[in-house]
Amino acid sequence: MKILILNGPNLNLLGKREPEIYGSDTFEDYFTKLQFKFKDIELEYFQSNLEGELIGKIQEVGFSYDGIVLNAAAYTHTSIGIGDAIKAITTPVIEVHISNTHKREEFRHVSYISPVAKGVILGFGLQSYDLALQSFL
Ligand code: DQA
Repeated sequence: MKILILNGPNLNLLGKREPEIYGSDTFEDYFTKLQFKFKDIELEYFQSNLEGELIGKIQEVGFSYDGIVLNAAAYTHTSIGIGDAIKAITTPVIEVHISNTHKREEFRHVSYISPVAKGVILGFGLQSYDLALQSFL
């Protein structure tokens, strides 16, 4: 089983960025733990701060991989383009968020990903990614 974890803008700063919200682990360290835990899954990780690169990656893997775990970060709340890309592909997408976006500012309550995602997992810290991978097994 081949699954892509796709992270959007500012998630490269995990560990340094607002640790009271996002925790103090880097995603690279967490990804190593996921690879160790989910040995039966061929896991790939890609992060970009650019909307077009995220769309390009969705198009690239979206007809061949078994799943995409997507944290589109701030683009979740703005990007019709990412929503359309998910609609266009055949690979199922699980939307994840580290924080519970519904407990936060109102602009974070809107998601262009949720209506086209297979499911949504949010508010469990980095464990949201782990739960998403479990859902694919
Ligand atoms: C986030 C929530 C978004 O609102 C925010 O813009 C992020 C991270 C999360 O994982 O909690 O960058 O997607």
